[in-house]
Amino acid sequence: MHVQMAGLLDRISKHLAVSRIAHPPVDLRQIENQQQIAENLKNIQSAAMFNVFQCAEMYDLAYPGYEGDSDYYLEKGKAGDVLYLGVGTGRVFAPLARQNPKAVGVDSSSEMISLLWKKNPDINGQVLKADALSIDLGANKFDGVIAPYSFLQLFDKEDMGRLLTNVHKTLKLGGVFHTDTCSPFSFPFKKKGHEVSINAVSKGTRVAIYIIYDHIMQTMKELAVVSSGGEDKVLEMNLFYYFPHELSESLTNAGFVEVRITGDYKDEIFDPSEHEVVVFEARKS
Ligand SMILES: C[S@@+](CC[C@H](N)C(=O)[O-])C[C@H]1O[C@@H](n2cnc3c(N)ncnc32)[C@H](O)[C@@H]1O
Repeated sequence: MHVQMAGLLDRISKHLAVSRIAHPPVDLRQIENQQQIAENLKNIQSAAMFNVFQCAEMYDLAYPGYEGDSDYYLEKGKAGDVLYLGVGTGRVFAPLARQNPKAVGVDSSSEMISLLWKKNPDINGQVLKADALSIDLGANKFDGVIAPYSFLQLFDKEDMGRLLTNVHKTLKLGGVFHTDTCSPFSFPFKKKGHEVSINAVSKGTRVAIYIIYDHIMQTMKELAVVSSGGEDKVLEMNLFYYFPHELSESLTNAGFVEVRITGDYKDEIFDPSEHEVVVFEARKS
């Protein structure tokens, strides 16, 4: 690919932007030219393709988190029995586990957990490799459960319902669940093709994230092309997207009350014209 793709990326890189789930998006560029779309997809398909959660080091490069999320979750998880779903490589979980020795985290990817352990050997005992959909953590165990960085977007509606029921069960009475999603209100619904954002991560390494939407199935495929040393690797992440009322309804169906929907971790009522991240808080009563 790689010469063609590099040329293409050079041209696009003038339009600096970041991916939807890398940060609140600024200046995402929409590619609508049919020829360019076909060329991009051909080039992407001919590069080596990996599941993003099996490439922990590259995940860290491509996905640095939503702006402001670390501080928010560190505050929410600072005390009590706290469960973190999808700890990843420990970006948020490692400082959280150090400040709260009662915090525990789960993740289903061996590769992500191995990197977390390698970087943070002092908190190894607080992390469990497990599938959040099937793990039985027991009833009434936690004061708080947190699922940062669009964790729920990894699941379709049915699995999300199962997950939320498990979360509800494992919370103590009065316990609180905190999570977030990217805001679908900033998606390019009336445009064809795909979005791209380009991020020069460090000298010589560049990440271009292409987002391909299916607005009937409410899915978004993120393809992160990591280019380094003349070689390209494509990391694939498949997400669903949800409108705030849909997630609110799923939380209510799982038994939660007092669902609160705010924006960008600012404790302001969510405003679709302003906020890029939807933040949810719900209580077990
Ligand atoms: C978007 S990443 C977020 C990682 C981390 N919270 C962060 O903010 O960087 C989602 C994480 O969830 C994990 N994951 C995906 N499906 C899971 C499941 N069914 N059970 C537990 N973890 C899962 C992935 O391996 C990945 O580490």
